[in-house]
Amino acid sequence: MKLKIAIQKSGRLHEDSIKLLKECGIDINNGVNKLKTEATNFPLEVFFLRDDDIPQYIEDGVADIGVVGENVVLEKKKQVRVVEKLGFGKCRLSMAVPKAMDYNNVKDLHNLKIATSYPVILGDFLKNNGVTADIHEISGSVEIAPGIGLAAAICDLVSSGSTLFMNGLKEVETVLKSEAVLIANEGLQEAQQLLLQKLLFRIQAVRKAKN
Ligand code: PRP
Ligand code: ZN
Ligand code: MG
Repeated sequence: MKLKIAIQKSGRLHEDSIKLLKECGIDINNGVNKLKTEATNFPLEVFFLRDDDIPQYIEDGVADIGVVGENVVLEKKKQVRVVEKLGFGKCRLSMAVPKAMDYNNVKDLHNLKIATSYPVILGDFLKNNGVTADIHEISGSVEIAPGIGLAAAICDLVSSGSTLFMNGLKEVETVLKSEAVLIANEGLQEAQQLLLQKLLFRIQAVRKAKN
């Protein structure tokens, strides 16, 4: 019996997810071009997937647990249990507009075309602020949308801010703050639940040692 964990194949959370397993004393091969690998010293199977797909895989039970950003959990609205905040991958989902735009407050987004990979979260944010706008969902390279005339503003993840800077954009509103979390299938079998407890115990020990 093995515990199946899904982590990001490439992107911001990839390295730190592998690092977390290493710090927990779990040895795996770095699977950059592989879809899955196994730990050599813990009953763990590791799947490398697109982060956006991980909540669905966990809900379906294809993987038992996963590491993803809270932003993805909130956007996908899947039936998964958030087990633990992991303290890395800290970022924010923000609204950004071209540097030259005269922006004063959220009402300035009214009737604009906004590109994002987070239509659900953005839709809630606009609604809560009484703003109507035209949301264009795109799956990647959101930051180039204003530059190519696809949208007047964007809603995307910001970490260091360098992606926005390089694309001549400025951050004008924080929609939500996010970090990596451990999620689990809601109906884990007893054996998997026990393995999760064992892993969680190690994760908590690693995190305590850092504080
Ligand atoms: C996010 C976002 C930007 C980048 C911002 O992508 O879409 O591309 O990070 O980071 P910065 O402020 O440090 O420049 P991410 O790699 O999280 O994920 P994705 O591939 O799922 O969009
Ligand atoms: Zn993604
Ligand atoms: Mg990106």
